[in-house]
Amino acid sequence: MCGIFGAVAERPVADVLVEGLRRLEYRGYDSAGVATLEQDGLRRVCAVGRVESLAGRVAAEQPRGNIGIAHTRWATHGRPNERNSHPHLAPGVAIVHNGIVENHRSLRAELSAQGCKLRSDTDTEVIPWLVSRRIAEGATVPAALREADRTLQGAYAVAALHEGTQDTMYGLRRGSPLVAAIGAGGGYLASDANALAGLADHAVCLEDGDLAKVSRDRLAVFDVNGNPVDRRVIHVDRNASVLDLDGYAHYMLKEIYEQPRVAGLINDRYQEQGVLSNFLPLPPQRIRRITMIACGTSYYAASVAKRWFEQLAHIRTDIEIASEYRYRPLPPAESGELAILISQSGETADTLACLHRLKAAGCATLGLVNVVHSSLARDADSFIPLLAGVENGVASTKAFIAQLMVLARLAVDIAGRRKTLGQGEILGALKSLDQLPSTIAATLHNETAVQALAESFQSARSALFVGRGALFPIALEGALKLKETSYIHAEGFPAGELKHGPIALIEEGTPVVALACSGELLDKTGSNIREIAARGARVTVVGDRAGILSLMDVAVGALTIPSCDELVQPIVATLPLQLLAYHVAVQRGVDVDRPRNLAKSVTVE
Ligand code: AGP
Repeated sequence: MCGIFGAVAERPVADVLVEGLRRLEYRGYDSAGVATLEQDGLRRVCAVGRVESLAGRVAAEQPRGNIGIAHTRWATHGRPNERNSHPHLAPGVAIVHNGIVENHRSLRAELSAQGCKLRSDTDTEVIPWLVSRRIAEGATVPAALREADRTLQGAYAVAALHEGTQDTMYGLRRGSPLVAAIGAGGGYLASDANALAGLADHAVCLEDGDLAKVSRDRLAVFDVNGNPVDRRVIHVDRNASVLDLDGYAHYMLKEIYEQPRVAGLINDRYQEQGVLSNFLPLPPQRIRRITMIACGTSYYAASVAKRWFEQLAHIRTDIEIASEYRYRPLPPAESGELAILISQSGETADTLACLHRLKAAGCATLGLVNVVHSSLARDADSFIPLLAGVENGVASTKAFIAQLMVLARLAVDIAGRRKTLGQGEILGALKSLDQLPSTIAATLHNETAVQALAESFQSARSALFVGRGALFPIALEGALKLKETSYIHAEGFPAGELKHGPIALIEEGTPVVALACSGELLDKTGSNIREIAARGARVTVVGDRAGILSLMDVAVGALTIPSCDELVQPIVATLPLQLLAYHVAVQRGVDVDRPRNLAKSVTVE
């Protein structure tokens, strides 16, 4: 995904554009650029890499225009270089784009045959040329954009400038989010309302097919038929885009340490028994089957919660990876089917595609989402806010813990309403969840031990993470965290699966992180770990006191978590793995908040 920003004011906007990109950089950071309308026409300044590189170029080149558009890129077509950076220009037109133009090849061929000189390797560049050509033939800018919208195939959000329109910029939405706003300082367009924090108090959420005209003090939105429309207006939280590190070295570490506070927020807001069931699009008693759909870390949250819905609420539960599920033949929904779609951003393309298919199949849909004005929140039958606050780090940490806590509370809630749990069991479960803020805080005190362990991973070419039961998805999450932040190959396995093949990977010194906590599976886990230790694995145990003690004779290290109820063990066991990935990455000199090739939310297939 990419970040789009636009501004029109009574003073030069270059600095506002760069600051807007800083707030959108989580969406992609391969390159960045601005285009402003100067006295002598459109001017483009771009830089490869982070927005800070662009800031330096802008400071040096000093664009003076009072209207401009900007873009921070996650490359889909064309390498991350200046030539492929947005904005893309055609005679008299500048465009920035988030999404994909699926028919760009045929359009590029047509345009080139007509003499258009496209310079980049991107799909995007066909858009300014389509618009420019129609304006040259006499169309107005809105009409030219509208025709482009009819010609393009794919999902996109576009911001556009035209040389002949000094005081107005245009936004077009088709499948990727775009908001427009008028604030004290002028008019704005942005991929995410959080980027408008401090600039505007409210933002208008464009819908698919909408075209917005934005000037300093006027905003008008037109639907696909050109009719003026009023769209959903959302409040912009002044503190939303909190870019402050508050003294932490990185957002990822800051957000790891925000987890006790997030846990407290969730407990306070969802404390009352039954409150979460009220979010459900159908009564708990009528639910006959649950399907949870997500990607990446959010999928691992679903994997843990599967156990909770089955064990506590006695509801058969399936979990699905969105990018696979969206293409699977879907039988018509039966009554009592509930789909739960889990997404921090609420903009993940594959998850949204599943949402729309499930709704079309007549399935009741519930979103669990952190960004409350996202597409998932808007389009699901209902949604539960995760309350984690803005997550700037690309590696998801506090949102994952929030997902697990909300899912655990929801499972207990539904079990209570379906009477599959007695009041005593419910109170016991809720007590362990209520204690999480302090349990999480206590676990994070172990950071020094994690830093020492991280050093032993510096020369690792690969690592294994193993666990059983609800700790197996946490092994997968630990492996993902290490992969995406430190670029070390890592895999998560069910401990019982090792002897069915993966144990062949074990050689002298292979680092293995074993999740072992008290419970019925501890002995079995111990046997599996001994099998690999006997073959040279360097085993670090992550677990409670019982788990650590059970493996001290074969482990080379241990990261202890406080003893806690089995229900919350997966939540607490995640924390040392988050810290481990963070410290390995930092010790390896990786930009842990902006790891290579990644973006915070994948809004393309
Ligand atoms: C998390 O650390 C990853 N960055 C990634 O797997 C992420 O969880 C996944 O892309 C899903 O994102 P979402 O929760 O916003 O849908």
